[in-house]
Amino acid sequence: MAEAREGVRLQKVLAAAGVGSRRACEELIAAGRVEVDGRTVRTQGVRVDPATAVIKVDGMRVTTAEAGLAYLALNKPPGVVSTMTDPEGRPSLADYVEGRKERLFHVGRLDVDTEGLILLTNDGELAHRLAHPSYGVQKTYLAEVHGTVARDVGRQLRAGVELDDGLVKVDSFRVLDRVGRRIMVEVVLHEGRKHVVRRLLKEVGHPVQRLIRTHFGPVALGDLRPGKMRPLTSAEVAQLYQAVDL
Ligand code: URA
Repeated sequence: MAEAREGVRLQKVLAAAGVGSRRACEELIAAGRVEVDGRTVRTQGVRVDPATAVIKVDGMRVTTAEAGLAYLALNKPPGVVSTMTDPEGRPSLADYVEGRKERLFHVGRLDVDTEGLILLTNDGELAHRLAHPSYGVQKTYLAEVHGTVARDVGRQLRAGVELDDGLVKVDSFRVLDRVGRRIMVEVVLHEGRKHVVRRLLKEVGHPVQRLIRTHFGPVALGDLRPGKMRPLTSAEVAQLYQAVDL
């Protein structure tokens, strides 16, 4: 723990990070709900380095602006490649982060035709863990398919479907809406394999016409318009940390 005099008082750092008023933060400290670098702090006035201290409230990580970390959600439009450059000159994620001073990484990829939520951050460890299959972070997709979805499709997908590269199981599947032949289904899974949703739905007889990622772990796309980006809230960042044991 940084106990240097030149640090910033913990309640001030917590308040600046949006945890609550300084008074409320003092109460959290007194109640033993605040941890700095793995140790519970109960005394007032402890100074920390907001750029480096790992601060948690009720076990949830608090991120400070001083750490220079950026956490963004982008609604990727179709036709944009999920890389920072494209040798073929197609629109890429770089077009959306132009002019930003941080060096941002994208967390995983979406197919060029897939739309929706993609996370961008310069927090390398978080990005790495979120993209890593061993942490099993859930992603939710909305897919448009055609035809009639047979009753047992959900059961089949949950039980597991054999693809070229092995068995894939979804966490949940449901039909959300039907307009004529167009059916919107929701698929939740914690797989990160290439084209996995398109391959799965094709395998059960429903090739995807349109695919949108609506959630990445605790983060929802919400009403973010295509091509728009927003900073994640500190609660969303804390939940992402929690999802990958950071
Ligand atoms: N599954 C797909 O098929 N495509 C994506 O872009 C993401 C998941």
